[in-house]
Amino acid sequence: MHIHIFDTPADAATALARRVADALAQRPAIVLGLPTGRTPVAMYAELRRLHAAGEADFSRAETFNLDEFAGVEPSHPGSFREYMETHLFRAVNLQRNRIHFLDGAAADLDAECRRYENEIEASGGIDLQVLGIGANGHIGFNEPGDTLIAVTHRVTLADTTRRDNAALFGGDPARVPREALSMGMGTILKAGALILVAMGERKAKCIERTINGPITTQLPASFLQLHRCADLYLDREAARLL
Ligand code: PGA
Repeated sequence: MHIHIFDTPADAATALARRVADALAQRPAIVLGLPTGRTPVAMYAELRRLHAAGEADFSRAETFNLDEFAGVEPSHPGSFREYMETHLFRAVNLQRNRIHFLDGAAADLDAECRRYENEIEASGGIDLQVLGIGANGHIGFNEPGDTLIAVTHRVTLADTTRRDNAALFGGDPARVPREALSMGMGTILKAGALILVAMGERKAKCIERTINGPITTQLPASFLQLHRCADLYLDREAARLL
């Protein structure tokens, strides 16, 4: 894994957005895998700025997001789809039919997971996947446990994850859905390149274990050690234990 450490979260976000913009320039029809969460907010802000400045052209790109809450309409203010509309989609020149998303409100959630996995396959696969990491080491919504699932699937969210996402649901963890849909670890590891981004003291311990610890289902991010092209973008706080 290639580790990049930046003085501030803003520096890390700027470098990451530049990396995505460079990838778009090199390969305009790139297939991007995208994350949600607090961490990538600054990266998306910088990508919007680069787009407005004519330095990030999404016109031929395709996107797949990592995950979505189950039982939540795409237009719900707490949905990841709405997060992406706010932070990126409405502000850049992505073609609407090249935006791919899990529909958490689908009538048959298992069929929806199969549809998504097939759609990724049909696109030729993800070229560049950007990832956040949960403080518990989850990637997408692949939570720590005795087993991990390779393909896109339904997940029961950990209590810590529901608490971490409470802000999207009026600050009340009880209103966060108990289930979500997520790309699997195999879906993620099949991407041509991975970039994991982590900021802040809260992530320091899981980042240290991701890099130096054993590969274990109890820390899904540790599987990134197996990828031949994985970069970590960290601020000083997240890199504190390295
Ligand atoms: P965060 O979430 O950026 O809000 O910390 C990251 C994640 O859970 O993947």
